[in-house]
Amino acid sequence: MKKSIHAFNSIKTTHLAPLNTPIHRLSLSLDTITEISGLYCKRDDFIGPLVWGNKLRKLEYTFAEALKQGADTIITTGGMQSNHARTTAQTAVQLGLKVILVLNGEFPDPPVANFLVNRKLGVEIHAVRDRSERMPKMLELKSSLEQEGRKVYIIPLGASDEFGTLGFVNAVQELKKQEEELDVEFDHIFHASSSGGTQGGLVLGKKLFGLKARIIGISVDSSVKELQASVLQAVRPIEKRIEMSHPVTTKDIEVDTQYIGEGYGIPSTASIEAEKLFAMKTGILLDQTYSAKAAAAVIDYYMKGLLKPDDKVLFWHTGGTIGIFQ
Ligand SMILES: Cc1ncc(COP(=O)(O)O)c(C=O)c1O
Repeated sequence: MKKSIHAFNSIKTTHLAPLNTPIHRLSLSLDTITEISGLYCKRDDFIGPLVWGNKLRKLEYTFAEALKQGADTIITTGGMQSNHARTTAQTAVQLGLKVILVLNGEFPDPPVANFLVNRKLGVEIHAVRDRSERMPKMLELKSSLEQEGRKVYIIPLGASDEFGTLGFVNAVQELKKQEEELDVEFDHIFHASSSGGTQGGLVLGKKLFGLKARIIGISVDSSVKELQASVLQAVRPIEKRIEMSHPVTTKDIEVDTQYIGEGYGIPSTASIEAEKLFAMKTGILLDQTYSAKAAAAVIDYYMKGLLKPDDKVLFWHTGGTIGIFQ
């Protein structure tokens, strides 16, 4: 593994923000469980003031690749309130690049949350009706911009490809050091999962850096099969690039779809409850459609006895806090 770790650490990044986020021990009690002693939170909501967030982990690698390819224009996509798209827009503006967003859904009126930030940034936004129209629209824009002589780089949904995913491999390296510092070895990690880059980075990082924890992706939209396919698609080129001897298999990609509720971007009863509990008992703010769905899973696992009160559990707060301003 030493050779692969060295190869991984030789990959260039564009430094965007301090990423060494704290791990906080949470004191939480649930109706039937008086004391949970082993619950911790990885505070990726600490990356940047409010409107940045943990997508910067991925974008450090993504923008390094885009700049290496000489891009002067970035196009990316997501839902109308995509955290990824908004963070990409902020980063591109910061780096002096033109950025175009292709977002599915209706423009919110009045503008709120991520969409409001995009408006403040003054970036070009194209609305499409549904997910299937996103890629064709991006390709159409790319080709017309190239005719004008621009060098366009398309960042795929969630930056969950062989570049963005590296950000969460690196996050595992960070976590391993923190486990040593805190003298804790986590048994379980829970995180919100959608386009696969977060989970892909974590499962590959687990193999690369010898993490013990079982990683459970709490899906906010995709089926188990879809998420496993996205993860494998993202990690395979990385495994090749850094010559990993033990590739990720579908068995490594644990996905729980029970907390999606009515679907992507729609709060569920459990996520609204989880948001309330976390805010009132821990001071941690969660958005209702990503991180609160993962938090709802953590609570439910304790309630069902699938987690013991003293198991070492890491709830990975994946950011998106701006979603509370909807
Ligand atoms: C706050 C938040 N958490 C989790 C995720 C899921 O990450 P991924 O798309 O890498 O699976 C997203 C994706 O946009 C997100 O915005």
